[in-house]
Amino acid sequence: MTEPALTAPIFATLTVSAVEHDTRNSVTVTLETDGDNRFRFAHGQHLTFRRMFDDIEIRRSYSICAPSPDGQLRVGIKRVEGGVFSTWATTELEAGVELDVMTPTGHFTHDLVSTSARRYALVAAGSGITPVYSIAATILAEEPASVVSLVCVNQNSNSIMLLDDIEALRNRYLGRVQIWNVLTQEATEIPLLEGRPDADRLGAMIHAGILPAEPDHVFVCGPEGLVANVRNAYLAVGTEADVIHDELFTSSQVGQLSTAPQIIEQGEQPIGTGYAILHGRATGFDIYQGDTVLDAAQRTRPDAPFSCRSGICSTCRAHLVEGVVEMNVTHGLVAGEEQAGYILTCQAFAKTSNVRVDFDR
Ligand code: FES
Repeated sequence: MTEPALTAPIFATLTVSAVEHDTRNSVTVTLETDGDNRFRFAHGQHLTFRRMFDDIEIRRSYSICAPSPDGQLRVGIKRVEGGVFSTWATTELEAGVELDVMTPTGHFTHDLVSTSARRYALVAAGSGITPVYSIAATILAEEPASVVSLVCVNQNSNSIMLLDDIEALRNRYLGRVQIWNVLTQEATEIPLLEGRPDADRLGAMIHAGILPAEPDHVFVCGPEGLVANVRNAYLAVGTEADVIHDELFTSSQVGQLSTAPQIIEQGEQPIGTGYAILHGRATGFDIYQGDTVLDAAQRTRPDAPFSCRSGICSTCRAHLVEGVVEMNVTHGLVAGEEQAGYILTCQAFAKTSNVRVDFDR
């Protein structure tokens, strides 16, 4: 696997080389990296885009939908109702446009072993297919003896993103990949593949062999309910929790706290101090009542990385070197990271008068 960068993510300007319409309301966007190694990525990672709309900076993360580490840098963007960035990207964005793009982030990935013969269960709902496609394509290319069962959940057959890419996988890796489309609002020939995949239905799919009963790894990306159902269905058949990897849609906004640091009134006294290491440089900052660690750090380090501010995307992840924090949401941390001292700074409130964080680790 390509190791995610050990330094904090950073923005760079990339040129869009292609925008291709995928479904009625989604596009794939390919970016030219000119061989910039900072944009090598691991399967399952995402990119954060930054753009001004009416003088307001909007940041949005989209998963890379290409095999790692050498696939073209390409993301899938689905228009969401009221979504400023996604509406612009699916209606106006075209080749030649320059975009501010953060180097790849995210931990919805795993170590590949080329000699392994593993069984994988992959489940993706809607645009959740974008990281899951990257994961499937990478596994099939890099682990020649592994097999993949991919379940794609969509409303109907017209809303399946990356359909041509998925079919190409099926044809290229005949016998090693099984692909099943579950349609929630359209009849199919197999009743089990119709309607919402609740825990019972997923259990039946495991029982029927549509999904493997003893997977080595499970990857699921979608809304919270689906992620919980897949996790519970696999826990119920004895799958170890630490091989079940999940990613929520970042649009869920489950832990959204603020869109920018709060304004500090003149004369207000800080309740603590902090210290951030970022891009090899250490900077001190004051912490005020109500600040998250990210808020506080951003006043002296506006380059502190973030995207969703919801505890999902993990772009703001840092290592807590000193002090104690309390987090609202920890979804963006993978198993073991919290115990290893990692925090999501957008969700972390200082519980000691001094905290030290390292964004570069
Ligand atoms: S900015 Fe997304 S988890 Fe903190």
